[in-house]
Amino acid sequence: MSTTNNNSDRLIIFDTTLRDGEQSPGASMTSDEKIRIAKALEKMNVDIIEAGFPIASNGDFEAVKAVASIIKDSTICGLARAVKGDIDRAGEAIKPANSGRIHTFIATSPIHMKEKLRMSPNEVLEQAIKSVRQARQYTDNVEFSPEDAGRSDPDFLCRIIEAVIKEGATTINIADTVGYNLPHQFGALIHDLMTRIPNADKAIFSAHCHNDLGMAVANSLSAVLNGARQVECTINGLGERAGNASLEEIVMAVRTRQDVFNCETRLDTTQIMTCSRLVSGITGFTVQPNKAIVGANAFSHEAGIHQDGVLKSRETYEIMRAQDIGLSANKLVLGKHSGRSAFKARMADLNIDFASEKKLNEVFSRFKTLADKKHEIFDEDLQALISESASETLNEIVKLVSLSVCCETGETPNARITLNVNGKEKQAESEGSGPVDASFQAIEKIVNTGVNLQLYSVNNITTGTDSQGEVTVRLEKDDHIVNGQGADTDIVIASAKSYVNAVNKILANPNRTHPQLGDV
Ligand code: KIV
Ligand code: ZN
Repeated sequence: MSTTNNNSDRLIIFDTTLRDGEQSPGASMTSDEKIRIAKALEKMNVDIIEAGFPIASNGDFEAVKAVASIIKDSTICGLARAVKGDIDRAGEAIKPANSGRIHTFIATSPIHMKEKLRMSPNEVLEQAIKSVRQARQYTDNVEFSPEDAGRSDPDFLCRIIEAVIKEGATTINIADTVGYNLPHQFGALIHDLMTRIPNADKAIFSAHCHNDLGMAVANSLSAVLNGARQVECTINGLGERAGNASLEEIVMAVRTRQDVFNCETRLDTTQIMTCSRLVSGITGFTVQPNKAIVGANAFSHEAGIHQDGVLKSRETYEIMRAQDIGLSANKLVLGKHSGRSAFKARMADLNIDFASEKKLNEVFSRFKTLADKKHEIFDEDLQALISESASETLNEIVKLVSLSVCCETGETPNARITLNVNGKEKQAESEGSGPVDASFQAIEKIVNTGVNLQLYSVNNITTGTDSQGEVTVRLEKDDHIVNGQGADTDIVIASAKSYVNAVNKILANPNRTHPQLGDV
């Protein structure tokens, strides 16, 4: 972003799902998964995608570089502490980008400077200046964050921010790192900084809020009302501890309350649901049903009095239209008699394009198989088909060939599985405490990864007992965490697919560790 006018009517959306979101324990993503999410964010017109923390690991460096090479319409940002090694690594990673940004940060609160950095305020100031100068060698798009700004001395913030703007920082990101601030306070801090710092008009001010007290969105919006023109946020509010400010809530608040906000985003909000489902599917962090905007109940009215009102006039109880976030009014879409062109047209309505005719045919054939088992195919089913087919594009070493389970009252469940491992079929059988446990143990007998199962979650994609179950498993081995997904109308088969999917990720990338700010 080159604009530096804080009075602009454009609110810049900086998505950090792939960086701060990934820092949630267990939310680690492979490079392929980051690319899939980045493409969805680009399609939604997100202005800036923070793709990772390149110094954290080779895996993260490669992922940022891959995202920078593929994404054309969003700026790609790499995070760096205010140290030379980090900045060089971030500079290298964003090199292939059409538009790249380096985001460098250093803590400015008394407790962080004294206890964590063991640096004096003057040393922190010098380090910040040096780092922004160095980042400018790589790009003229440099963001500086005073970490824990929400608990920092405003006078010191004024000094350091004025100095880094002089050095060429074009975005100043005020971070409420520990989610401590209240909306009126955080807004006042933004206002105070923007009015007191003499060169404040040379940079965009940004808000980066965490949700420890449940106020990340409120604090971000208060910052916007006080002049911030960039917000840093994540899909579904994913992020460390209680998470970051949720992108969908901020974007829809600004859009719905145009009477209050004198700015707009350029987001295509009809992509929100697709992005939300993609991120929850990949990370295994399911969305609570009553979550604002993207929760399953966000647009459903149970109370008779509400239903009656909505039928008479939608606006009586609805402040947003379901279609605006990408939920179709008529949810029933296709059935087993639907042809290829109806399928393709519905996919186009959902903004899903196919890279080739071959890919279209492959997903259409999966659709037909599903439609044979399940009469009514909903948008959610189509999106799950796409997710499943995309997650299989990584080099699969192990494939599920067949699974047979035997469960009987009073008997120990038993599973017999056939896997294709590197082109060779292998079989195993195991008992377990239930059919899923028996299946996982049978798979382990063949692949022998020795992983720990950290999470097993089943979600029904739509309603009804004929619905597809979407299963996520999280496996851990030697600090390497992966999430696997699988969907099927039979949840035991969905479970086996998700386990095999996760095993493939472990085998494909054995050295990737979960990046953490403190690790480097
Ligand atoms: O929360 C935080 O302070 C951060 C910084 C890197 C901006 O994520
Ligand atoms: Zn953060």
